[in-house]
Amino acid sequence: MISPILTVPGAGQAGPASLAEALEGGAVLMFPDLDFPLSPFETRFTERPFADGKAKNVNIRGKTATLRGAAGTPEEQAALRALLIRYREFAKGLIARYLPEYGTAITLAGTSYRPFDVDRRKMSWRRDDTRLHVDAFPSNPIGETRILRVFRNINPEGQPRLWRIGEDFGSMAEKFLPRLPGYSPLSARLLAALRITKAKRSEYDHLMLHLHDALKQDADYQAHAPQADVQFQPGETWVTFSDLVMHGAMGGRYMLEQTAYLPVAAQTHPDRSPQRILARKLGRPLQ
Ligand code: SIN
Ligand code: FE
Repeated sequence: MISPILTVPGAGQAGPASLAEALEGGAVLMFPDLDFPLSPFETRFTERPFADGKAKNVNIRGKTATLRGAAGTPEEQAALRALLIRYREFAKGLIARYLPEYGTAITLAGTSYRPFDVDRRKMSWRRDDTRLHVDAFPSNPIGETRILRVFRNINPEGQPRLWRIGEDFGSMAEKFLPRLPGYSPLSARLLAALRITKAKRSEYDHLMLHLHDALKQDADYQAHAPQADVQFQPGETWVTFSDLVMHGAMGGRYMLEQTAYLPVAAQTHPDRSPQRILARKLGRPLQ
């Protein structure tokens, strides 16, 4: 089954009963008409990339919201940082309003500005996000945490963000799990001791990294696995668990993105997490 896109109508209209349940089941929630206006000064950020070009994206991180990877005058960089802080508040408000079940269990992580054309040419296969994948962070083990992302297309010229959406996580895992190397707690401890990882990599993190790589390296799977093309228009906002939903970004420029973390235990159905799906497929708890 291919992950569904669920359109959530504006205020006052009836939407699906529990959006959290739909998300946890692998849906992408698409909000067609949420307001997030740019000021006249800010429109420049969608006219050319204010990025130093060294990293894929510009972002703010942490309590201090330090801006990284940006370009422009000090005034412009301060305005870009303020825009990202405002987007973080917008995403926070969206989550509070539409996913109230998660309450205070959700924490907000990085916020990014993605001004560049999705372009596969310069990328190594591992960083090539045009290939269908689930998100996994190599140096930042997350264990019992879910990755929820809030995206918004801010392209000023009508250009959609083009995605591919793939099959459900369980079907994908069944094909790939038998090929993955076994987990070694000893090497996980070593990676942490050498500070290659920020914390000890759990078996879940190990499996997700190897899934991410195996998926991206399998040209036959990329070409022939169940998949659908999706377009997100300017002004649209979409939300998904990117550790669960198979996705690839195929085109478009100028997008905002907010990452949020949710403990598996805070889900309405923890058994629908990739953590529990993988354990069920292996027939044992993960280490
Ligand atoms: C990704 O998470 O793979 C990229 C999403 C995007 O840039 O549209
Ligand atoms: Fe991704």
